Amino acid sequence: MIGRLNHVAIAVPDLDAACAQYRDALGASVGAPQDEPDHGVTVVFVDLPNTKIEFLYPLGENSPIAGFLEKNPAGGIHHICYEVEDILAARDRLTESGARVLGSGEPKIGAHGKPVLFLHPKDFGGTLIELEQS
Ligand code: CO
Repeated sequence: MIGRLNHVAIAVPDLDAACAQYRDALGASVGAPQDEPDHGVTVVFVDLPNTKIEFLYPLGENSPIAGFLEKNPAGGIHHICYEVEDILAARDRLTESGARVLGSGEPKIGAHGKPVLFLHPKDFGGTLIELEQS
């Protein structure tokens, strides 16, 4: 059911420093910051030949990233994102298998303008998983 690895998301305490490091030291193609108020984050995508890295930085009062950075002050891997062809079919199959979908269970529009859902990390090896409709 799952397809390509769309991205690996890294929460960072200093967005400018992370962008500069990936651009200058790693020689990667780093995009422009995008504010995502619905998700409480500012994101930057780094394009790699086979996938992307998504930097996450807190935006607003109740950012889900703020607590993560309190526990991980140097930053850290926050989630990985797999592509699925049909997000509602994927959700139904996963919930039937006993996996928990975070939030209302209804897809939200993610950073690429496509529907996304998040799955409970305790159900997937301690890893927060994002599904994005491809
Ligand atoms: Co993501």
